[in-house]
Amino acid sequence: MSDQAFVTLATNDLYGKGALVLGTSLRNHKTTRQLVVLVSPQVSNNMRAVLGKIFDEVVLVNVLDSKDSAHLAMIKRPELGVTFTKLHCWALARYSKCIFMDADTLVLCNIDELFEREELSAAPDPGWPDCFNTGVFVYRPSIETYNELLQFSTEKGSFDGGDQGLLNSFFSNWATADINKHLPFIYNLSSVAIYSYLPAFKQYGADAKVVHFLGNTKPWNFSYNPKTRCVIGDSHDYSSLTHPEFLNMWWDTFTTSVSPLLTEHGISKEPRSSGTQELILSSNFQEEKLSEAVSQLSFTPPPPVVSSEERRKKWEQGQADYMGEDSFQNIQKKLDAYLN
Ligand code: UDP
Ligand code: GLC
Ligand code: MN
Repeated sequence: MSDQAFVTLATNDLYGKGALVLGTSLRNHKTTRQLVVLVSPQVSNNMRAVLGKIFDEVVLVNVLDSKDSAHLAMIKRPELGVTFTKLHCWALARYSKCIFMDADTLVLCNIDELFEREELSAAPDPGWPDCFNTGVFVYRPSIETYNELLQFSTEKGSFDGGDQGLLNSFFSNWATADINKHLPFIYNLSSVAIYSYLPAFKQYGADAKVVHFLGNTKPWNFSYNPKTRCVIGDSHDYSSLTHPEFLNMWWDTFTTSVSPLLTEHGISKEPRSSGTQELILSSNFQEEKLSEAVSQLSFTPPPPVVSSEERRKKWEQGQADYMGEDSFQNIQKKLDAYLN
């Protein structure tokens, strides 16, 4: 199995921590495949040394950045232009097949069976299920595909400014061509799914094989008290806190296996920023607590938009107030409020 690998990416030390937890979780579940991490020059030497303890290969790559601030603004993640760096994974041509996994994913059991799938296999994106999410995907390294992707990125760009928009345009027949390339959602269970479809999470969540801490706030942005098993975080980050059992699993792995290695290599654990609020979250998942948490973590939606005749006219004439009342953020809030 030396020609098959799990591959992840870190362009800084924070995502390096995520990669270490992911790598450890793959090892804990006894993968028989190689572990590879792509790192950019911004990753410190100490972090690279620790990564080398968990991963078989630490591969230095240059950062590829879409610099597409306009599209990135739509996903409210200006920092994700650097996810174009993921494309380097296709250059690992010494491997015949690989599984790419975001550094914010955590493996809950052995998932080596994914190597039976073909390029490009991935799970649906929770926001637009006819697109695949690029947090977990099966692919075949190939210099030819790599060059095509690089060319595609300069000529066509990405509709979300990151790798996911690009890869969905490149592998454009994913939604319809071959159902075997649709990974079950349990291979890429994202936090978003828990509050957008709680009953399904209650029904199927226990079968999860990979958790993806998709979104702005990552597990390493929280703090964890190993004695009380409490996560300390911003109470508004309902997406991670509605399923604290996964967050606690991430922190258990970090505390038990990763933290000692970091200390050994002189990498400090940054303190939490002030202004956070301690939440008492049981590490043992209990359904009641989950629903309670979900109902408590609602937010106040904006006041309903009164559509005056003039505003409607303007809207119909294509003169929406994109920067103000009709901003993407306001529309999204309205939709969220409606869905809630
Ligand atoms: N990534 C990185 N540095 C960054 C941003 C992203 O190394 O500054 C890598 C990392 O592997 C990460 C992936 O790109 O998991 C995708 O970004 P992220 O997981 O933050 O996106 P999300 O899944 O939240 O949309
Ligand atoms: C998605 C994916 C992530 C990707 C980002 C930008 O949310 O989860 O892997 O990097 O979009 O395209
Ligand atoms: Mn991710």
